[in-house]
Amino acid sequence: MRIVLLGAPGAGKGTIAKLLNAHDGSVQISTGDILRGAVKAGSEMGKKAKGYMERGELVPDSLIMEIMEARLQEPDASKGFILDGFPRTIPQAQDLKKLLDKLSIKLDVVIDIEVPKDVILDRLTTRRTCSNADCQEIYNVKSKPPSPEGKCLKCGSPTVQRADETTEAITQRLETYNEKTAPLIDFYKKEGFLKTVSSMNSDEIVQEIIRSVTKK
Ligand code: AP5
Repeated sequence: MRIVLLGAPGAGKGTIAKLLNAHDGSVQISTGDILRGAVKAGSEMGKKAKGYMERGELVPDSLIMEIMEARLQEPDASKGFILDGFPRTIPQAQDLKKLLDKLSIKLDVVIDIEVPKDVILDRLTTRRTCSNADCQEIYNVKSKPPSPEGKCLKCGSPTVQRADETTEAITQRLETYNEKTAPLIDFYKKEGFLKTVSSMNSDEIVQEIIRSVTKK
């Protein structure tokens, strides 16, 4: 499948992307994961992105497009991809459209995951993430806890709260989402790709996405 996952911070994009990857092997491409890996590795890209991420602001479009142009042409993406956290601005969506046209790739669907704000705030403050940059498995102390010692159940590394999980950064990320990313809902509605899902149950959302892709 070739899909884009839209949704506010904490809506569950990463969780759904991992379940879809387990379903048919389509690769999860998360710009957030790529950037966090770069920050941890201390690369030039990571140095450029770090401050924006910690403040809950978006990283400049030019840096994101540089990453995505290369990533979408890697061999594993030819089997299908789930874009998690990209695009996030109208210019990114316009550039993605041009890039996909150039590569003769057609999107199946754009999924907007709708979750009430109080649920989002609760999920973001209770999330834990595997600290291993190659794993980044997502946990939640309430709904999907790591081991009793706080270790990742997949790779055994410690789980941590992300650097952008302070109250200030969460507030900024939600404002940034409303201002810069929510307009993509109308953009993809006009393009004829949008499907909205509003279940609180990840398995139900996955089944709905699979049905909408197989109907095509
Ligand atoms: P990014 O990593 O993409 O963060 P985000 O969009 O804020 O999304 P999150 O990862 O916080 O949430 P999610 O929707 O994936 O939810 P999750 O599955 O974890 O981006 C981080 C930063 O990088 C940005 O702020 C920006 O600076 C930069 N960046 C990234 N992409 C960029 C771009 N394209 N352009 C510019 N800058 C960019 O779930 C949340 C919690 O809820 C978890 O604990 C999970 O276990 C739990 N949960 C999920 N589903 C359920 C459920 N059904 N029931 C109960 N609990 C659930």
